[in-house]
Amino acid sequence: MSSPLNPVDRHWFYERAIQSPAQLLPFLQRIHGGQPLRLREDFCARARLCDAWLQAIPSSSAVGIDWDADLIAASAPHPRKQLFAADLRAPHPRHAPADLIFVGNFSISELATRLELTEYFQRVRAQAAPRAVLVVDTYGGPAAWRTGSMLRIHTLDDGRRIHHIWEQRAVDPITHRVENALHFRLEDRGEIVAECTDAFLYRWRLWGLADLIEAGEQAGWLAPEVYPELEGGPTRPEGESWAACIAWRCPDSPRTEE
Ligand SMILES: C[S@@+](CC[C@H](N)C(=O)[O-])C[C@H]1O[C@@H](n2cnc3c(N)ncnc32)[C@H](O)[C@@H]1O
Repeated sequence: MSSPLNPVDRHWFYERAIQSPAQLLPFLQRIHGGQPLRLREDFCARARLCDAWLQAIPSSSAVGIDWDADLIAASAPHPRKQLFAADLRAPHPRHAPADLIFVGNFSISELATRLELTEYFQRVRAQAAPRAVLVVDTYGGPAAWRTGSMLRIHTLDDGRRIHHIWEQRAVDPITHRVENALHFRLEDRGEIVAECTDAFLYRWRLWGLADLIEAGEQAGWLAPEVYPELEGGPTRPEGESWAACIAWRCPDSPRTEE
């Protein structure tokens, strides 16, 4: 729980320590390689990437979808932003075709079965513009299959520091179901002034790259490229622990919408 003495909540921590839309935006534009204008951010929470997109690209538009109506309601309104509170496992709300679709912070793991995954990729494709790019991030490596915690420290502009702990609480190498938790502490000049234990709990299906790639191709996306997260060109993920983005391109003619 966050301390009542401090005006910070779990989303305040999350948006400062975990999300980085200002870095993500040029990375996604580079992967796309053209001049995408219409962004769709799926599993968007408060749609911070949409906000950065609209601010950076004057003639752009953005669509955000998340099933948490409270998060959608808390997202800042904007005349070029369209938000939907909807379950992405079901037929998607209709919107203008998207040039770039992003699924971030391992949200693809919210889809638990292979059927959900393939149907999701099909539905996204049905609302993608010709030559659209779909980017999905995930993590892996031998360390992904071990329980344990990792601490990272993020320094804010005012010098305070967020201690962010990523805990892999349970892993099942047979079913690929995992349980992860995020914990935060706010440190001000050496003193912990707020903390948020179990700020977010995730019960996920950790997809292998091969499963994701195969499901994307089955849904009609072209063979993808794999990028290291937020940097560099196409890569082969390796090492104990890695995070990567898979980028699929849409063939020129989108399928008929469902
Ligand atoms: C790990 S968070 C990621 C938030 C954001 N994309 C980011 O980059 O930080 C996963 C989000 O997916 C949403 N979510 C989970 N299952 C969903 C579903 N079936 N349909 C729509 N949204 C879902 C949750 O409400 C949550 O906001």
